[in-house]
Amino acid sequence: MRSVIDILDLSTEELSELIKTAEDIIANPEKYQEVCRHKKLATLFFEPSTRTRLSFEAAMYELGGNVLSVSSAGSSSAAKGESVADTAKTVSCYADIIAMRHPKEGAAYVAAQNAGVPVINAGDGGHLHPTQTLADLLTIWREKGRFTGLTIGLCGDLKFGRTVHSLIAAMSRYEGNRFVLISPEELKVPSYVKNILKEQNIPYEQTEDLMSVIGDLDILYMTRVQRERFFNEEDYLRLKDSYILTPEKMNEAKADLAVMHPLPRVNEISVAIDKDPRACYFKQVLNGKYMRMALILKLLYEAGTLKELPERSRA
Ligand code: CP
Repeated sequence: MRSVIDILDLSTEELSELIKTAEDIIANPEKYQEVCRHKKLATLFFEPSTRTRLSFEAAMYELGGNVLSVSSAGSSSAAKGESVADTAKTVSCYADIIAMRHPKEGAAYVAAQNAGVPVINAGDGGHLHPTQTLADLLTIWREKGRFTGLTIGLCGDLKFGRTVHSLIAAMSRYEGNRFVLISPEELKVPSYVKNILKEQNIPYEQTEDLMSVIGDLDILYMTRVQRERFFNEEDYLRLKDSYILTPEKMNEAKADLAVMHPLPRVNEISVAIDKDPRACYFKQVLNGKYMRMALILKLLYEAGTLKELPERSRA
């Protein structure tokens, strides 16, 4: 049973096909509106979410399917001590596909090992968030028209930022990209992520100073300092406002910079930047829905749950 736990579970060819499907959905939504009729998606969210859960649910509704939802750990039998494995086995009796978010790293993998239906990792602790990366990739594609030869700045909480870890893994597979990792010392990328770059001789630099590099960047991927992952409040308060992107700082950036952010935003991008044509973060939100539609179709088709797909998606 094919599940997607890590963005590297999808080949670059498959990513290209998902992007083509998403663009076909954007161009021809009516072609897809009954494809998942009588099929069910279970969204199991044991950690808070606005975009990921609602975009998965909107995706399934726009494909003509139905949704079963657990929107908090407290509202399911996880609160009584039920294991992730038993939850996955149980929900497989009711749903054709599962999207799961969990505070523990590796939880989606355990779910996939035990489920009888495809499982999509919708974020596991500070580890990975592959469907946010699908949203990010469609955004980069639509803004830049390529995945190669880009200078990509990632800024903020690079230690706990699972979207950063998945995006670095994804963009490392394309030629000629350079990474600029901008964070306080305490929030640097974990070594297992840095090793992806080292092992492939991909150029990268680490700095604490956003303004010293902002003018070099094609993409600036801002992230929130994640209060929920800190062991003590004091450290969070000290680091939370390490980077605040303002219109003045944007004056130093390229005219075609793409400013991205997985959201939610707290303080790290001034709302004044929302009107700047270089701000792409709300485009990412919408792109996430289309890529999740494309992924649901792909996994249900590969599982044999869907017998046929609109022509483009089968390519
Ligand atoms: N980007 C993202 O994962 O947002 P949510 O936490 O709101 O789902």
